[in-house]
Amino acid sequence: MPKPLAAITGASAGLGALFARRLAARGYDLLLIARRPDRLEQLARELGAAGAAAEVCVADLAAAEDVRRVAQRLSSEPRLALLVNNAGFGVKGLFVKSSLEEQMRMHRVHIDALLELTHAALGGMVSRRAGAIINVSSVAAYVRNAGSVSYCATKSWINVFTEGLYLELRRAGSPVTVQALCPGFTYTEFHDVAGVDRATIPKWLWLSAESVVDASLAGLDRGKLFVVPAWKYRLIVAFMSTLPARLRVAVELWSPYRRDQPDPASK
Ligand SMILES: NC(=O)c1ccc[n+]([C@@H]2O[C@H](COP(=O)([O-])OP(=O)(O)OC[C@H]3O[C@@H](n4cnc5c(N)ncnc54)[C@H](OP(=O)(O)O)[C@@H]3O)[C@@H](O)[C@H]2O)c1
Repeated sequence: MPKPLAAITGASAGLGALFARRLAARGYDLLLIARRPDRLEQLARELGAAGAAAEVCVADLAAAEDVRRVAQRLSSEPRLALLVNNAGFGVKGLFVKSSLEEQMRMHRVHIDALLELTHAALGGMVSRRAGAIINVSSVAAYVRNAGSVSYCATKSWINVFTEGLYLELRRAGSPVTVQALCPGFTYTEFHDVAGVDRATIPKWLWLSAESVVDASLAGLDRGKLFVVPAWKYRLIVAFMSTLPARLRVAVELWSPYRRDQPDPASK
């Protein structure tokens, strides 16, 4: 019997690489998608040695032609049982002063690629009446932050999109499940890429990548729509979600963790 296949975007580092290791241990073969071939090939060798077949798919998900190629691969794959839309990155700084190209690249990776790959994967899953999609969002979907405007906006879009899909699938009686995974600050390469000094973020807010991925997979087993790992973040999300808009904006203006100021360490 052929193994089910899990496709993971952003598999060359951080949460994506860990999803690949955990899913290989759960009996999946893997399709590893990202830009860095050396990282993907190294991971594929590691997973192969552990008994999972892992295929490398080098793609820049900000490039429309690469996204189209990955989408075609997903839509023609009868074994596709899970898609993890995980690729992403942050940029810091005031929107008005930041590079427009960089902001648009973020929208292409977080929104356009996720939309197209989800569409490509869902068709087969719905007709096979099996499968799941995890969209890696963020607590930033609930807590806006001056200095990372596009990041918060794209992650909010992911939550709204995933909730809408969940409703459509449930109303159609489909067993296919979708999840929006909303981690807080997590130890990966994310903050190095974004140029954010980790020391500026209080230690108690940090999560391990292991705890985030394990919470996501436990949520997947239970068919949970929103997974917010760690009680401290569930409290923050619950609190921010109940506030009327004016109060929420006041709290956000007061927040000491905004990214529209230079890091003290970079002064
Ligand atoms: N770490 C956190 O604190 C945190 C918190 C909340 C949410 N998240 C979300 O978690 C997800 C994973 O991030 P991470 O923390 O694991 O960060 P990471 O260690 O920097 O990994 C990011 C992954 O995304 C891939 N990627 C970035 N741009 C890409 C592009 N244009 N095309 C294809 N792949 C691309 C990278 O691969 P290549 O560079 O090889 O292409 C890498 O594999 C992201 O969506 C992020 O927004 C992270």
